[in-house]
Amino acid sequence: MKEYLFVFGRDPELSFLELRQFLDGRKIHYIVKEVKDEIAVVALENLEGDLANTLGGTVRIGEIIGRDKEALRNFPFILSDKMRLSICVYKNSSLYLDVKTFFKTQFKKERLRYLFSKNTAPSKLKKDYLEILLFKDYIAKTTSLFNPSLYKERDKRRFQVFQVPIANYGFFWGNKEYRLDPTRVGSWEKAVAISDLHFRFEDKVALGATLGFIEEYQPDVIFVNGDVPDFPDISRFSNSPLDLLTDEDVADLSSLVLESKQQGKIKKYLKPRLQRDFERIYEFFKELRRICPKARIVWIFGNHDHRMQGYVDEDAKQLAGVRRPGDKDEVLALAELTKVREFGVEIVYSGKNESSTTYGDLLVGHFYKVSAKSSFTAAGLVRQKHSSLVQPHVHRMGAYYKTLLDGTVLVGVEMGCLCRLDPEYMQYPNWQHGFVVIHKKKNSGRFYLQPIHIVDGAFLFAGKRYGRPSNHKDETDTKT
Ligand SMILES: [Fe+2]
Repeated sequence: MKEYLFVFGRDPELSFLELRQFLDGRKIHYIVKEVKDEIAVVALENLEGDLANTLGGTVRIGEIIGRDKEALRNFPFILSDKMRLSICVYKNSSLYLDVKTFFKTQFKKERLRYLFSKNTAPSKLKKDYLEILLFKDYIAKTTSLFNPSLYKERDKRRFQVFQVPIANYGFFWGNKEYRLDPTRVGSWEKAVAISDLHFRFEDKVALGATLGFIEEYQPDVIFVNGDVPDFPDISRFSNSPLDLLTDEDVADLSSLVLESKQQGKIKKYLKPRLQRDFERIYEFFKELRRICPKARIVWIFGNHDHRMQGYVDEDAKQLAGVRRPGDKDEVLALAELTKVREFGVEIVYSGKNESSTTYGDLLVGHFYKVSAKSSFTAAGLVRQKHSSLVQPHVHRMGAYYKTLLDGTVLVGVEMGCLCRLDPEYMQYPNWQHGFVVIHKKKNSGRFYLQPIHIVDGAFLFAGKRYGRPSNHKDETDTKT
């Protein structure tokens, strides 16, 4: 086996993985001796061909001569007249002066002229060169150097060589990133996406477990990905009674009363259900802001969030779009009526159309497509939008993956829901509770998704249990 020094260019961590993939794929036996930033020292057999121009991310490959200046004397250098000699020094190798003096003496001895330079770009070394690479106490002679004019070709080939970049890059377990090379963990932003609460039909246990997790996890971004209220009273599908009091309502009758001052007289009304929905939404975002004071909170509207605007546009056209004089925001807009901007909530709303936003290379939106089976909706959407995405709306968990010809992996995740699983209008719905944890690399589009399935009000994240405790009374009670 011989030892080689690999010098990587752009994105060294990816280039290192590319090299391993290349060697693994060709069943070349190798041992990684050392990896530090853009340098890898690898012992291997059968290194043939112009590898620096085959591997997309490798700039130089050098055969290691030895680990002290004595090794230079035993190496059969072939020197010629007017040769270019360059010494590249990595990580402050202390051998620089010794090596320089050695070659000066050698050229002098053989009466040859030479051009000397330090840390020279490959483009300047193209013809008749001798390049020595120094890294710590390693001394290497360059055997393969990339040709900068081929960089486009190299990039194309890079994906052919490195066929599964995301899968091989590493993975997350909970909040911990695992890499082939553990010294190269990235810097990531963390986000949580929740959806489909459908107030007043939320599942208090699933929602409580999720909020408890969010408070502990302190994500940088919280995506509330649509359908916060249900708004059955203004549904095209609904024939629900206009006002049905729940036990909760009756327990606090004063909260049901709305006072209005008209013509100098106080008039009392039973609060319309919509009003109570607005207040519930306000309380929810207030709570979210309280538990995560620093997070970006992004509310992406779903079809149910749109219902109110849709109702105004269809049934109260004359009031559509009205603003208080001088104001920017419409009065009869959901964000306005629920006052959520008080808590710094960012709104993503495209009217009748599906609303979505991007988070790195991931599309976060509330899409209206529905297929009956788990992951089928995500598959259809990934194919339709040619993008990775998370999809709420179907109230189901599911994941779909597709590797494209260039090696890019697209993923679509159906993210479950946080509403009750026993709707009045459907028997045995194929629904599951869940949400998604997203890691997004800083200053990059790269992301990693961890769908979390909530089972009986509890779930595991990196092996830790959240939500309903395992010895919960209800569970044991039902068994006895
Ligand atoms: Fe929806």
